[in-house]
Amino acid sequence: MPESIELTKEETGLARTLDGARVAEEIKREVREKVALLAERSGVRPCLAAVRVGDDPASAVYVGNKVRTSEELGIRSEHHALPAEISGEELLALVESLNIRDDVDGILVQLPLPAQIDERQVLWAIDPAKDVDGFHPVNVGKLSLCQKTLVPCTPAGIIKLLERNKIAIGGAYACVVGRSHIVGRPLAQLLLQRDATVTICHSRTRDLASVTREADILIAAIGRTGFIRGEHIKRGAAVVDVGINKVADEAEARELFGSEAEKRIETIRRRGYTLVGDVHPVEADRVAAWRTPVPGGVGLLTVAMLMKNTLQAAIERRGIEINF
Ligand code: GUN
Repeated sequence: MPESIELTKEETGLARTLDGARVAEEIKREVREKVALLAERSGVRPCLAAVRVGDDPASAVYVGNKVRTSEELGIRSEHHALPAEISGEELLALVESLNIRDDVDGILVQLPLPAQIDERQVLWAIDPAKDVDGFHPVNVGKLSLCQKTLVPCTPAGIIKLLERNKIAIGGAYACVVGRSHIVGRPLAQLLLQRDATVTICHSRTRDLASVTREADILIAAIGRTGFIRGEHIKRGAAVVDVGINKVADEAEARELFGSEAEKRIETIRRRGYTLVGDVHPVEADRVAAWRTPVPGGVGLLTVAMLMKNTLQAAIERRGIEINF
């Protein structure tokens, strides 16, 4: 009889971590190196203009991270923080001034915007060549036509995460739960481009679990705490959790995290809440082979891909020929 039998993670029922932090660090290192080479060979330093309206604390943290990371990688950045009462016309005037400035390569308007502002009008006013979020219709259209373009950061980061963990996309059955313009739809396009068979599910999908349970790659982007449970997941699947939800209730944290709950409860006591994704962590880990943690998963990749897009915009809009 053998002394010990090596069980795979799948057999032990403990999902491995799809480590967004590691892949984000890799991408940032690559961008930093290329930014330095660009400066050395062509004297260009890319510049990102980040625009934030109002004082939503989450948006302030996100934009702060984006600006700080830019500086860390050698990308110049500008933080335009505008009052919540600003009019649509004033915001459009700022966007236009950034469009025409030759030294600005990337423009990011943090969402959501206050109710008096027409979000679509603002996003559509950004020069597509500087649209580092990939939200302008020209870039959305190019993505759906499989043309090279600026791709939305979160979906692009998820693809990198899967590829760099050698999770096969070609031929896989991928299921995206959530049909937002920021994540679900562009991610479905990227998976399809890589030869996955893709289904998009949403709030009107009938018998959701019967669909998601077929998926080799399951993406949860719905914004509901712990919504994807064991019954939704195929044994051995890779589960990517895009959700970022606040949980303040200790009993809820206990139910979600089981034996790992103590650290979360400490966080709730210290900060008032803990961050939880759209996937039920304890149940998912019994079934999936891979799962992204929250926090520390997809969110870090979004910022890394924004840096990559800013570098790409700087190179392409300036017509720089450079072989890295
Ligand atoms: N709000 C939430 N996610 C995003 C994003 O990726 N880009 C922008 N601009 N706003 C967001």
